[in-house]
Amino acid sequence: MNIIVTESYEEMSKKTADIFEREVRNNPSLVLGLATGSTPIGTYRELVRRHKEEELDFSSVRSFNLDEYIGLEPENTSSYTYYMYEQLFNHINIDKKNVRIPDGMTEDPVRYGEKYDQLIREAGGIDILLLGIGTNGHIAFMEPDEELSVDSGVVELTKQTIKDNSRFFESKKHVPTQAISMGMGSILRAKKIVMIVSGKVKAPIIGEILNNGRVTTKIPATFLLLHNDVTWICDKEAYSRVTI
Ligand code: PGA
Repeated sequence: MNIIVTESYEEMSKKTADIFEREVRNNPSLVLGLATGSTPIGTYRELVRRHKEEELDFSSVRSFNLDEYIGLEPENTSSYTYYMYEQLFNHINIDKKNVRIPDGMTEDPVRYGEKYDQLIREAGGIDILLLGIGTNGHIAFMEPDEELSVDSGVVELTKQTIKDNSRFFESKKHVPTQAISMGMGSILRAKKIVMIVSGKVKAPIIGEILNNGRVTTKIPATFLLLHNDVTWICDKEAYSRVTI
């Protein structure tokens, strides 16, 4: 496990972009796994800048997103599909045919996860996966529970996640209660994982994960401790409760 602690959100974003840039330049047909939320916005901004100013080429890159709300049309400004085009895909030269985001409007959400995992396998697996973390320790929409699904599929969102994510919606009651999410196995099969964490709101959960060194389904992100190529990039506020 590599841990990088940065002075600021901007530095976290640049260091993350450095890793992704290196991987894309080494392997133009890289398979990316991508995250949404507030945390990756700076990283995407930096990748867009490098595409525009430094010829970072995404034309053969393929990508899979972690999750999407069930019931939101791609045009809905709160959907993760909308977010990804706004923050990244509309501003780089990725071939839109190579972009995969779970379909929140699918008629058969239960079977959809199976299909999504199949598409990832057919692409040869995810080479590098960007992750954020929820204040409750979720990754993608793998929420704290007694058990965690290995495969991708439908998940129920916790009250905490609905509250945390309500800032992206008109109000809390507009937040969908279900999503399609990559499963824990689908996440851990990524060859390389970069977890980015920013702000003091994340300090308690990062402290708990890194100080305890234990795996529990009650904190899904603890499963990353079992992966052999994870880089945690935390700004100093997020890292402030780590004592190891
Ligand atoms: P955030 O979300 O980046 O908006 O904090 C992270 C997450 O919920 O995974």
